[in-house]
Amino acid sequence: MSPDFKFRSLSIEDSSWVTESWNDPEVAKYFMAYPRTEHDVKEEWIRKVVEEALEKTIVAELNGEPAGSVSVEPEKGRCRHVAWLGIFVRRKHWGKGVGSALMAKAIELAKGLGCRKLTLATTEGNERAIRLYKKFGFNIEAYRSEDTYVNGLWKKEYFMSLELAPCEPKFNGAGFPQSDEGSQFTNSNKQDSKVRQLMDSDLDELWRLQNCPESTKSSVKIPPITRKETQRWYERIRVKEGRFCYACFKSSQLLGYVQFRTGLLDAPNVYIEEIIVDVNRRPLETADILISAVKNFRERYGYRRIFTFIPQTSTIITKTLEKQGFKKTGALRNYYFIDGCYVDAEFYEYP
Ligand SMILES: CC(C)(COP(=O)(O)OP(=O)(O)OC[C@H]1O[C@@H](n2cnc3c(N)ncnc32)[C@H](O)[C@@H]1OP(=O)(O)O)[C@@H](O)C(=O)NCCC(=O)NCCS
Repeated sequence: MSPDFKFRSLSIEDSSWVTESWNDPEVAKYFMAYPRTEHDVKEEWIRKVVEEALEKTIVAELNGEPAGSVSVEPEKGRCRHVAWLGIFVRRKHWGKGVGSALMAKAIELAKGLGCRKLTLATTEGNERAIRLYKKFGFNIEAYRSEDTYVNGLWKKEYFMSLELAPCEPKFNGAGFPQSDEGSQFTNSNKQDSKVRQLMDSDLDELWRLQNCPESTKSSVKIPPITRKETQRWYERIRVKEGRFCYACFKSSQLLGYVQFRTGLLDAPNVYIEEIIVDVNRRPLETADILISAVKNFRERYGYRRIFTFIPQTSTIITKTLEKQGFKKTGALRNYYFIDGCYVDAEFYEYP
């Protein structure tokens, strides 16, 4: 007899079994990038996570009992055709087809939302999950070396995708590289550029740069960005939570910034989440200065690696990463939609 599955949306009452499950070391081992320490997996914190996930998460019930869930989270801006997937099943229900049933539902949901690509991250060694994803047609497109420490070994993080609808037209190299005229890798002007953490008094300059259509093409942002959005983005940078933003100035002009976060415990790395340089003012130099600053940060505080991904069309940044010794580790295909075509996200890591 086939199992009796029922599907419903996540509700706030689900917090208690989710808490129990996320405190199960076998479930948590691969599922939660972080926090993975038990004191962080308290119901109060999970209630907040559940609250944010309500509309995008499906729960499968097996014989009337919640057995697992899958979330489908569409990206924003230039990546709005992509959704990220996250799945887990309570350990007592593993191997009964719950994961497969949830995957089928997630694909249906993502298609219903108009997404063209479903993407996820999983850890080397999580064979159950990797087999499940491959069964549904997902392929590994990129990885991060030694991203996570599991049971005494450094493991790769794999990025897998399933194309749900054709991504056409595909970027074919025409019209690029991004303009970097008049900007060379020289030291001549570097002494008058300064890098420091972004501050409250920089909001006007930040808002100006976030509204420069050419300069924001290295990010998911699509101008116009309201002042409120800039303010909210700025408020999410909290050093005590491991979120930083280094900005490069020439006198009071913001030439670019790099926003990054640091991982905890089992993933002691630096993750660059956004890098934007003003393409009209010495962009190569700015990118060079900002990336050097992140490398110095890594060295000073003893983080293992720096990871990032960047649109293949943002050659000012990719060129700089390569010059600074970053290595390419694959690309998420068609991850961005820029200037009317689909563009890959190139993965880089240092060292
Ligand atoms: C990964 C997970 C979601 C799978 O859920 P599940 O309900 O056990 O999955 P299913 O019973 O539908 O099995 C799905 C596939 O997994 C694979 N699988 C199941 N048991 C396996 C095992 N012991 N070893 C290897 N692969 C296995 C099989 O390919 C199976 O498909 P098949 O039976 O048609 O061949 C679940 O194990 C889990 O929640 N793990 C912990 C959290 C986690 O790692 N989440 C993913 C993070 S990226």
